[in-house]
Amino acid sequence: MAAVWSLLILLSSFFVARGVEDKHSSGTIGLGYSLSPLTPPTSLASPSGRFAFGFYSQDNGFSIGVWLEGNRKTDNKVVWTANRDDPPLHATATLTLNEKGLLLSSRVSGENKVIAYPNDSAVSVFSASMLDSGNFVLYNKVNHTIWESFEHPTDTLLGGQALLPSHELISSSSENDHSSGRFHLSMQLDGNLVLYPLDVDDDPTTAYWATAIDGVNRSLRLFLNSTGFLQLINNTDSSIYLEINSKFYPEVSYNDHNENTTTTSSNDSIVHSASLDVDGNFQLYTHQFEPSGGFRISRVLRALEDSCKVKGFCGTNSYCTFNDDRAYCACLPGTDFIDPQRNTLGCKRNYSEAHCKGGKDNIPLYNITPLQNIVWTTGIFYSEELMSMSACSQTCLEDCSCEAAQFSDGVCRKQKLPLWHLLRQHGANDESSTSTAFLKMGIRSLEADDGAVLDELKPHIERKDPTLKILLLTFSLVACSCALLAISGVFIFKFRVLRYKRLLEIGNLGLTGELTLASFSYNVLKRATNGFKEELGKGSFGAVYKGSLNRGRNLIAVKRLEKLVEEGEREFQAEMRAIGRAHHKNLVRLLGYCAEDSKRVLVYEYMGNGSLADLLFKSRQRPDWDERTRIALDVARGILYLHEECETPIIHCDIKPQNILMDDYWRAKISDFGLAKLLMGDHTRTFTVVRGTRGYMAPEWHKNVPISAKADIYSYGIVLLETVFCRRNLDTTVSNPEEIILSILVYKCLVEKKLDKLVLGEEVDKKSLERMVMVALWCIQDEPALRPSIKTVVMMLEGITDICIPPCPTASSI
Ligand SMILES: *[C@@H]1O[C@H](CO)[C@@H](O)[C@H](O)[C@H]1NC(C)=O
Ligand SMILES: *[C@@H]1O[C@H](CO)[C@@H](O)[C@H](O)[C@H]1NC(C)=O
Ligand SMILES: *[C@@H]1O[C@H](CO)[C@@H](O)[C@H](O)[C@H]1NC(C)=O
Ligand SMILES: *[C@@H]1O[C@H](CO)[C@@H](O)[C@H](O)[C@H]1NC(C)=O
Ligand SMILES: *[C@@H]1O[C@H](CO)[C@@H](O)[C@H](O)[C@H]1NC(C)=O
Ligand SMILES: *[C@@H]1O[C@H](CO)[C@@H](O)[C@H](O)[C@H]1NC(C)=O
Ligand SMILES: *[C@@H]1O[C@H](CO)[C@@H](O)[C@H](O)[C@H]1NC(C)=O
Ligand SMILES: *[C@@H]1O[C@H](CO)[C@@H](O)[C@H](O)[C@H]1NC(C)=O
Repeated sequence: MAAVWSLLILLSSFFVARGVEDKHSSGTIGLGYSLSPLTPPTSLASPSGRFAFGFYSQDNGFSIGVWLEGNRKTDNKVVWTANRDDPPLHATATLTLNEKGLLLSSRVSGENKVIAYPNDSAVSVFSASMLDSGNFVLYNKVNHTIWESFEHPTDTLLGGQALLPSHELISSSSENDHSSGRFHLSMQLDGNLVLYPLDVDDDPTTAYWATAIDGVNRSLRLFLNSTGFLQLINNTDSSIYLEINSKFYPEVSYNDHNENTTTTSSNDSIVHSASLDVDGNFQLYTHQFEPSGGFRISRVLRALEDSCKVKGFCGTNSYCTFNDDRAYCACLPGTDFIDPQRNTLGCKRNYSEAHCKGGKDNIPLYNITPLQNIVWTTGIFYSEELMSMSACSQTCLEDCSCEAAQFSDGVCRKQKLPLWHLLRQHGANDESSTSTAFLKMGIRSLEADDGAVLDELKPHIERKDPTLKILLLTFSLVACSCALLAISGVFIFKFRVLRYKRLLEIGNLGLTGELTLASFSYNVLKRATNGFKEELGKGSFGAVYKGSLNRGRNLIAVKRLEKLVEEGEREFQAEMRAIGRAHHKNLVRLLGYCAEDSKRVLVYEYMGNGSLADLLFKSRQRPDWDERTRIALDVARGILYLHEECETPIIHCDIKPQNILMDDYWRAKISDFGLAKLLMGDHTRTFTVVRGTRGYMAPEWHKNVPISAKADIYSYGIVLLETVFCRRNLDTTVSNPEEIILSILVYKCLVEKKLDKLVLGEEVDKKSLERMVMVALWCIQDEPALRPSIKTVVMMLEGITDICIPPCPTASSI
């Protein structure tokens, strides 16, 4: 098949050569005239023979476009492509001029498509012309232009062609592939002509070249006049507003004719073009046609001398160095080229993050590499804290979310990969700047990501931490005593202080500095979510939608708050800041918010793996025992942070599996926190409205007594039971009525020492099963005072303190 195909392409070049001879001399065709890729005529030439319209071959197929005729077919320069992002056409395609426009029919797919048609369907096409300017036009019966290729530019403007207000040029993917590439030149409605990368939102921070006209609402168009001058033309009265050739960097190479000026005088044998090239540079060319045929191309002007200034030139995680008039891309440490053949596509991480534990446990897994003189200016999601340079490096190492950090002037900014638009600064040893970038590098490669290496590392970790071992020994000696409920022993106190410190280190984000919360406009969020189209779920506060920022680079979850207590914008912002400060690896991160009129919208990081409820109750393959114990501990640590470690303690009020989300690495994170009400200093607060969800609500919600943090403990107890046994606490689908309420059933089995009966043949660690069940049963005691604090829960789950048999729970709130 491939052989036949290449034969066809070979044949096509033969026919194209013949097609040139067959070309229509007047450049005009009438209705019924057709072109095809292999059988002549394949193209229609302009009267001068310099331009042609028709089929050209690219990417193992054919495209339709306009090109400058070179001496040989390989010298042709494509200046326009129809439907550039459509797949390549098959050799059996034909293009026919009919009354509706240019009809493209494909015999293979049986598809018919009109690729150029009048904007008014009442107008019918009569003829078409390839003009000497390079414009391909459709006419009606009275020779009025009803469609022209000049109005639909791709990446090139020709002499006499304009780029209209709010239109753009988009660079090609590569020299041989004219589909949309990575950059665009936008003729903005404010009169500014600006270059941007395509894969991020257009804003002043992502622009890399502009005419810098800072007026609002000047309707200007960009015009390349036929003698090679680029001008901004007033759309209302057609006066020249600005000559922009002076804004360009002139080419030295053009001086080989001793021609000093950057543009040429009027000479019929010269064709001018301005194009946004594959590398993101906007450049002006002349094409000097030789009497013998073909043309010589010279670059006259370009927007940027240094291609490294083109934002995103090297793609992600890659930095650019400019040397000898060439830009070179290099990967950041810990990353490799996505495609070694195409270095400008960026680099990808060569290690796995999947086993990141956080805190000191990270030390054997990662390295931090300092990089001098590498800076990046873009990226909106970062944490900003004042600290020392070594603390900056350390906090990034220990924080699973941090993949790179930038330290300058005492401020540490942490970011996730991918990093984008990195620049190697010139003037290498500038002592005055104290800016350093830190990059986290995994020691384990992606290939070795099978857990074996990790197991090897485990004993290593324990050996490195003798204090932990001693503590373990000490506290396993602490006898079981129901005095647990009044933990006040000196040893335990001592231990707690130590332990507490360690936990602080694990979740040490946001303790010192204020997180930068973005404030979004409603319209931006509406656009980001495609008009609130894809609903992810409905919570007690409103629906959550999937969205993306920066053209898909950052996925977000957008929550539209409903049924809110009326409150002013300032109060709302204060609450958002409090929530924004709560930053822990087991909490879903709030990135920003919108408060416009009565609209209240929250923007969270996107959690790719659904909720714990999906995982426990819906998924076909339930998580294994180790996974479940890890999740249980993750959730407890998140609550510990909310209750005791963050600046403004927060009672969640609605802990349930639906509110616990799983990130890309299956780490559990609590969502929706802080939305009930912020917990005040006295740790109690009377809620007027009952919050929470039936089945997870502590009994005191129904008793009109003050609600304390112990209400969350109750809910956590239920979640813990459900996580351990992968079923709902209240399950009416079971056949045996004694088994409907899980907590009652579990208590019975615990007392009878038959807990393993409940895990249905799964291999579990009996000791840890018993421990988790007892913790859960203590948590769901009716009397809030009997429930342990979350700090005690974490310690009990970690097996550091022994637990005694709890009293039988009642099922009063179910
Ligand atoms: C349209 O232009 C063609 C070629 O220039 C000419 O032959 C024809 O007479 C014109 N028709 C009208 C109606 O002007
Ligand atoms: C249709 O196109 C013609 C020529 O390209 C232009 O003059 C005219 O204003 C357009 N009409 C509309 C309704 O866009
Ligand atoms: C520019 O001004 C005109 C008239 O004043 C108005 O109709 C148009 O909407 C404005 N456009 C923009 C982009 O502000
Ligand atoms: C193009 O613009 C330049 C500068 O304004 C002017 O000198 C020249 O005459 C223009 N060319 C044409 C063909 O109008
Ligand atoms: C464009 O022309 C109109 C009418 O002459 C004038 O009012 C306006 O100020 C001009 N705009 C610019 C940007 O020069
Ligand atoms: C010609 O080029 C030289 C060197 O680039 C420059 O100094 C000189 O001013 C130019 N002359 C004119 C007329 O632009
Ligand atoms: C245009 O330039 C070419 C090459 O420099 C020259 O041979 C030709 O005579 C020029 N034509 C005109 C009309 O100036
Ligand atoms: C990742 O690539 C870096 C080079 O950038 C190399 O030094 C490192 O060993 C690689 N890491 C792994 C785990 O392959």
